[in-house]
Amino acid sequence: MFRRIREDIECVFDRDPAVRSGIEVILCYPGFHAIQIFRFASFFWKLRMRLVARFISNFGRWLTGIEIHPGARIGRRFFVDHGMGVVIGETAEIGDDVTLYHGVTLGGVSWSKGKRHPTIENQVVIGAGAQVLGPIKVGAGARIGANAVVLNDVEPGVTMIGVAARPATTKYQDPDIMEKFAAYGTPSPDLSDAVSKSIEALLEEVERLRGRISQLEEESGSHAGNEKEEDKREPIPPVT
Ligand SMILES: CC(C)(COP(=O)(O)OP(=O)(O)OC[C@H]1O[C@@H](n2cnc3c(N)ncnc32)[C@H](O)[C@@H]1OP(=O)(O)O)[C@@H](O)C(=O)NCCC(=O)NCCS
Repeated sequence: MFRRIREDIECVFDRDPAVRSGIEVILCYPGFHAIQIFRFASFFWKLRMRLVARFISNFGRWLTGIEIHPGARIGRRFFVDHGMGVVIGETAEIGDDVTLYHGVTLGGVSWSKGKRHPTIENQVVIGAGAQVLGPIKVGAGARIGANAVVLNDVEPGVTMIGVAARPATTKYQDPDIMEKFAAYGTPSPDLSDAVSKSIEALLEEVERLRGRISQLEEESGSHAGNEKEEDKREPIPPVT
């Protein structure tokens, strides 16, 4: 349990550039409070103590503005930034490392008692005010733009924008860059990957040039050596 709590605190450092300390997360992050309360409520839901579970869940909503139904299934390192106005329905399923901003709904569009809320795979980022509706699947690593309304399945790694949401062509298409989470769904300004790639390329070039220089030195050295050897030779006596 403590490991999970620790992960919940640590993941904030990866996703919110404004965070300063662990104690700040514990005291001031409604997303952190919401997931702790959800786990507690979910425990009672699984014991079929449904009213207790709903009561705890409702308490969490008062406190954070984040409404998570205790029947939802949520993976590890789930983070809701800012909170307020977030609704996660009963049959929603959320993978690991998912991030939501304020005003997001993972909602239903039918009265069917069965699966009626979305499935969100690992590392998805859902922007502020976005609505993801129905028993659809949002593929791993997808990004949902602020205020988008998503009504159909989303392919992994795709960025969706607009109402109704459609795939966007963005400046970040490189899967290597997008592999790491980035706050707000855009790669972190710590472009360590890109920088390290450039440094590696430069080092390779330096190595290649070094090789070429040694090769040239050898060639000119052997040439100079030949000249020296020629110098050592006895001068041809003049013909008299
Ligand atoms: C969708 C998102 C992840 C795309 O980021 P990006 O890869 O940097 O996208 P780009 O800036 O390259 O934009 C690509 C295109 O999508 C459009 N676009 C980007 N976000 C959009 C949005 N939310 N709604 C509608 N269009 C959007 C851009 O105008 C651009 O259109 P163009 O090609 O016609 O010029 C990002 O814009 C976003 O909405 N992130 C969520 C941020 C958020 O919720 N912040 C709240 C923090 S409190």
